Amino acid sequence: MQKVLESAGVTDEHFVTMQGYDDDIALGLIGSTCKTLDLDPAEFLVDFGKYWVLETAVKHYGGVMIFAGRTLKAFLGNLDAMHEQVAATFTNLRQPSFQVESADDSSITLIYKSERDGLTEFVRGLLLGLGEHFQQEVEISIVARKSEGALHDIFRIDLG
Ligand code: HEM
Repeated sequence: MQKVLESAGVTDEHFVTMQGYDDDIALGLIGSTCKTLDLDPAEFLVDFGKYWVLETAVKHYGGVMIFAGRTLKAFLGNLDAMHEQVAATFTNLRQPSFQVESADDSSITLIYKSERDGLTEFVRGLLLGLGEHFQQEVEISIVARKSEGALHDIFRIDLG
């Protein structure tokens, strides 16, 4: 851990409870973690997304998770309202926006709008984590990518 922090040039002073911190810090930490542990950054982001939903969100924000919806589709439709609420208690946040573009019994098309780049695989992991959380089999494909010139990332979630 010390090695990761040192190679990212990060110290404890960078983290203050309930305040946002610069993306450079987070991205630097991801980069140096992957280098130190010899991990593929895309795979790391998927695993991190899953872990975030199943461990961080469920254990530390359990109330929010229950309040935001009882099915995957309802939950996804409430993500913006949920982030709005969170934004009221943190400072310096630039929350993402998620829009369920279409949905039927077999699939959901979800638009992910963000000021940030590079989090597509993190979102894939979050969606896989949400599938597990709602005990819903999901297969995720990315039908448009901002990194390839699309306006936003668009995900298709096939429901099993
Ligand atoms: C239950 C609790 C949740 C809380 C408390 C929460 C809170 C936050 C906070 C504080 C940020 C940082 C915003 C910033 O720094 O500007 C954030 C970002 C983000 N959240 Fe959540 N979130 C929750 C659930 C979720 C879920 C379930 C998803 C699933 C799709 C999600 C997707 C994201 C993404 C992709 C970002 C990255 C920001 C970006 O693209 O700019 N969040 N969230």
